[in-house]
Amino acid sequence: MSEELGKQTMEKILQSLILTGKLLIVGVPQIGKTTACQHIVRSLMETKEFQEGIFQIKICDSANVWKWRFDKIPFVDMTKTHNIPEDERILLLDLGYTDTKLNTSLIENMVRGDYYRQKEIINKLEGRLSIRRIYVIEEIQNVFGTYSMSGDSGRFWLKVVSEGANYGQYIIGLGQRLADISTRICERTRYILIGATSGQNDLAKLKRMMPSSKATVIIDKIMGLKRGVFLFLDKENAENSMIIYFPKFVQTEKPYEYNVKQDGKIEARRVFV
Ligand SMILES: Nc1ncnc2c1ncn2[C@@H]1O[C@H](COP(=O)(O)OP(=O)(O)OP(=O)(O)O)[C@@H](O)[C@H]1O
Ligand SMILES: [Mg+2]
Repeated sequence: MSEELGKQTMEKILQSLILTGKLLIVGVPQIGKTTACQHIVRSLMETKEFQEGIFQIKICDSANVWKWRFDKIPFVDMTKTHNIPEDERILLLDLGYTDTKLNTSLIENMVRGDYYRQKEIINKLEGRLSIRRIYVIEEIQNVFGTYSMSGDSGRFWLKVVSEGANYGQYIIGLGQRLADISTRICERTRYILIGATSGQNDLAKLKRMMPSSKATVIIDKIMGLKRGVFLFLDKENAENSMIIYFPKFVQTEKPYEYNVKQDGKIEARRVFV
């Protein structure tokens, strides 16, 4: 049940994301969640779909990690502008605010805007999907928290999580505690990359998410997992779960600041040619 991070393993992860529209990455602090996700994003960037502009990736980070540790991609300093260029193939949104509510609403506005854009494109193409928008969201508990799934905002996110794969919105959410992520989201998420967990609450949640005999085996596997090691859990088919090792991420070049004009407006400038 153990695998190095080979090409095939990575393909399975990417397929599961595209098939179901979401992937959660959870585990205790410093266990390697962001690192695992960086490997995933790098692999997404190597796909034909990305090269052709079909996959568009937006990374939402408020902890200032990607900006220093990922490869050469443009980042927008969201404390300088809230205008997000629409058609970049990949963009890092550096959410510098300590106010998590503000960060969350910036993310929600972006995903909502994209949602209407997706609908419009699909109508024009008579039901065919063209662009697929992939969002990497750090601190996903701020968006899908246990108390935040009500009201208009909650309904919108539930829709994205439930139906996103049908119209081209995909979410990779990262968080430290499964227990902090809304049960309604966990129930709808088939694949979870799960590293060592801390609290009993997380384990209890896992037990509620799947048949208890399976959960016991799964819990056994994740107890005491080392840094970089995750269980790729397929909730619906627990026997297919794998232990995967994600090595330390070695960046090639650093992200660079997207060209923002003095008046705070974004200047459209293609970076990948
Ligand atoms: N397989 C690995 N081998 C060695 N070092 C690793 C490995 N995976 C991650 N690291 C290092 O461990 C540290 C924590 O990794 P990372 O930031 O990915 O963890 P995290 O789970 O996202 O943490 P946080 O909960 O703070 O967001 C980083 O310095 C990273 O380079
Ligand atoms: Mg992290």
